[in-house]
Order: sequence, then C-alpha cells, then structure tokens
Amino acid sequence: MTSTRQPIGIMDSGIGGLTVANAVFRLLPNEDYIYFADSIHIPYGDKTQEQIRQYCFEITEFFIQQNCKAVVLACNTATAAALEFLRETFPNMPFIGMEPAVKPAVSHTRSKTIGVLATAGTISSERYQSLTQRYAKGITVLQNPCTGLVPLIEAGKTKGAEVEALLQEVLTPMLKKKADTFVLGCTHYPFVRSVIESLLPEGATVIDPAPAIAKQVKKVLAEGGQLSKSTEKGNKEFFTSGDEKVLAWGVEVILG
Ligand code: DGL
Repeated sequence: MTSTRQPIGIMDSGIGGLTVANAVFRLLPNEDYIYFADSIHIPYGDKTQEQIRQYCFEITEFFIQQNCKAVVLACNTATAAALEFLRETFPNMPFIGMEPAVKPAVSHTRSKTIGVLATAGTISSERYQSLTQRYAKGITVLQNPCTGLVPLIEAGKTKGAEVEALLQEVLTPMLKKKADTFVLGCTHYPFVRSVIESLLPEGATVIDPAPAIAKQVKKVLAEGGQLSKSTEKGNKEFFTSGDEKVLAWGVEVILG
C-alpha cells in the first residue's frame, strides 16, 4: 500500500539530476524527497548497460527501504540503459524516466538542423535511435557526447578556459552545419548552460527538458492518486555514494 505522505526518490549518476530535481521541487513543493547522487560511479556515460542496470537496481532498493512512492531517473543515460529493466523488476513502483528533448527541438528548429549534447551511452542506445527515427524525419540531427564534460562538472568546473574549449569544439561543427536548436540531453549540462549560450549566436535556442519531466512526475502521481495532500513544504534529503562536498556544492549551485 502506498500513501500520499511517502517521499519521491530522485536519482542520477551524480549531481546532474539536481537540475531536474529543482524543477520537480518547484512544481510539487509539498512533497517529501530523497535525492541520490551515485557520484562514485560517475560517469555513467561510459559504463556498460549491465553496470548501469546494477547501480539503478541497488539505488531503487535503497529508495524502497526509504519507503519511496515513485522513482525519478533524472538521468538520460540511466533511462536509456535501465528504465525498462527497472519497470519489469519492480512492477509496483512507478518510474519516471527522461530522454533528450528531440521532439520539442524538431518543432522549434527553423534551419531543420538540431544539435544534441548527450553522453556516449545515451547516443549509442536503442532508445535514442528510435527517438530520432520517430520524431526527426526530414531533420538533420547532429550529436556529440561532450567527452570529459561530466567529470569536469563533478569537479566543480562550470566555467573557465577548459570548459569553454571543450564546448567550443562540440558546438563549432554543429554551427557550421547551421544547427539553430540545441538539446541539453544530459542532466549535468544545465550546469554549463551559460557557457553554451555564450558560444551560440543570437537567435539560437537551448532546450532543457527539466520542466517537462516535472510535469510528467505530477501526472504520474496524480494518475496513481499519490500526490501529497499536505499544505506544508515537504522535506528534502540528499544522499551520495561519493564525496559529500561535491553534493553540497551541487545543491548550493542549483537550489541556492
Ligand atoms: N547526468 C547523466 C545524464 O543525464 C549522465 C552523466 C554521466 O555520464 O554520468 O545522462
């Protein structure tokens, strides 16, 4: 039996999922939350599907011990590797996953060319292939795994020469091919959104799917009759498998 006062579990390979958690907290402030950053296993982007499934399995067991009523995979890479597996393994737990916002980018582009920034794990997944095949007919989809960016962000580097050089290398070929709409297809990348925007020409658009995921969380809970009925602000707890200081920094940057 689930009750409306149970917490919602939100997980990511690290602090990236805080960018999604922030949107969920704003939309549903009276819920209780448990956030889990699996920073010891960062980056998920270069792990095998089996490894990621195992990590997500263990995190879900932790959320179940904590009496969570739903689990948000605030990680594109984990969703691509493990969402179906988790739904089969824990049929009574609602899971909300996420994938790069290709569909909104396709409706938005005028140059018919979009750039997707996502991890190697996401880009090579069947889920991503099927997403682009279904929604990006007649559109050129350029993608780049931004290799090395997630570890930089986890190390607290969100601006400066190193981040700029890495992103310049990612974005320049996309801009040469006339991409005008850019998808943040990894939940860590909103941490460097201002650098990305500084490298794009006026009129280019950056899409972060976090607000859409928050709406989806609300919808799933409403359908299951699981939305909190509390009129008071809920509790938030943050856990990490890695360095507490990294998590505290991420919470400070994203939640203030
Ligand atoms: N934040 C994750 C995502 O949305 C993955 C980062 C990583 O490679 O660990 O894809």
